Amino acid sequence: MTNDELIAAAREAALKAYAPYSRFHVGCAILSRDGQLVTGANMENACYRLGICAEQSALTTAQHLFGLENIVKMAVAGGGAAEGSLTGDGVATPCGGCRQAILEAAQLGSTDIEIVCASGDGSAHEIHRIADLIPHGFGPANLTDAG
Ligand code: THU
Repeated sequence: MTNDELIAAAREAALKAYAPYSRFHVGCAILSRDGQLVTGANMENACYRLGICAEQSALTTAQHLFGLENIVKMAVAGGGAAEGSLTGDGVATPCGGCRQAILEAAQLGSTDIEIVCASGDGSAHEIHRIADLIPHGFGPANLTDAG
């Protein structure tokens, strides 16, 4: 699957977001080592702090379908939604909490997961590795000294 196809899947997933409060629609598409794809979108709540990010939503599906340790790449796209398409030229990068969740999968699978961060309208993207998005992160590898 190409990066453009992965971005398209994330942009399409964003259109299924439930984001009535922020009106910022985020989609995430996750690719497994053997080419399986899962998607997710943010899901907000009237109790604002209980909202779920698109990445967390897609990660839970990835866990069920092929296991967190088999994630190799993902795309994230966010923006407004107007007339059935995702808008905005700002590139969406994962929030701090999502970076921590992605780091968990990365360390489980010994894979420096690639994250394609795209704008809502698909006109721009940046490619990052999780090790660069959360330098000196704390993950399962840091718990090996526990008794
Ligand atoms: N959001 C995500 O889904 N992923 C991120 O990495 C950043 C933020 C969502 C949360 C909230 O529903 C909306 O975007 C505005 O913050």
